[in-house]
Amino acid sequence: MFNSVNAINDAAGTIYTSQVVGPGLKASLKFGEDWAEPGVDKGPLPALFLRLAAGKIEAKPPPLGLYLGSDEPINASNLFGGEQAAAFEQLKRTEAPVFSTDPDAGFVAMYPDFASAMPCATCHNEHEDSPKIDWELGDVMGATTWTFPKSTVGPDDYLTTTDAFMTTVAEAYSDYFNKVAGFAEPVEFGAGWPEPGKPLIVPDLETFMAAVRARAAETVLNELVLTAVVVPE
Ligand code: HEC
Repeated sequence: MFNSVNAINDAAGTIYTSQVVGPGLKASLKFGEDWAEPGVDKGPLPALFLRLAAGKIEAKPPPLGLYLGSDEPINASNLFGGEQAAAFEQLKRTEAPVFSTDPDAGFVAMYPDFASAMPCATCHNEHEDSPKIDWELGDVMGATTWTFPKSTVGPDDYLTTTDAFMTTVAEAYSDYFNKVAGFAEPVEFGAGWPEPGKPLIVPDLETFMAAVRARAAETVLNELVLTAVVVPE
């Protein structure tokens, strides 16, 4: 289940970053930390899109937790502590997901968050609150961290939780989308993506979610089959 929600989150983050924020910036859209303030015509930075999703999943019935942590965070509240700091040390060595338990959170899964594009490193290096200023391309900058209190997950939990997270992503994108709809300079939206040199268009919810589903579908289905299969004794 962790693999599936992580695949959905990864798909949303990758598509938002590479197909909305990246080309959007070149086509005059703006993104920033102050995006949510009234009168600021910007969208959320990728890390804040994840934060938005994390806040929304917390408010839903499945007891799934999500946060982005690091040992060198810009925002001190993202610092790993206790057992999770130890799990993160292991993740940095192996660069592979680490599954552990935590006395408070229950079951914990960490997935490496790599500096997959140069702006990851440069923006963090230049940020006044960053304790580390020599991030390089490919570094493990942090970990997408999921928690769930139950040790056994059946098909029902699986479907309810992955579905709730898919809805969460849709709600997070809607927040961006609704913000864009109120920009002083009107922006067109529909079944397209911003592209430099073309008239500016922002994907509507349906278009964005179809891309997220297509990208995450294989993992979500494979893990469902694994969850549902009862291994004969
Ligand atoms: C334009 C600036 C900018 C870019 C680009 C950017 N980040 Fe960040 N990142 C931030 C800010 C600001 C925060 C703190 C957000 C908060 O308040 O939680 C943050 C938070 C994080 C965190 C949580 C730990 C911390 O530092 O607080 C991780 C991990 C992270 N970013 C990784 C990445 C990765 C990986 C990429 C590229 C895919 C990336 N960032 C791109 C500005 C940026």
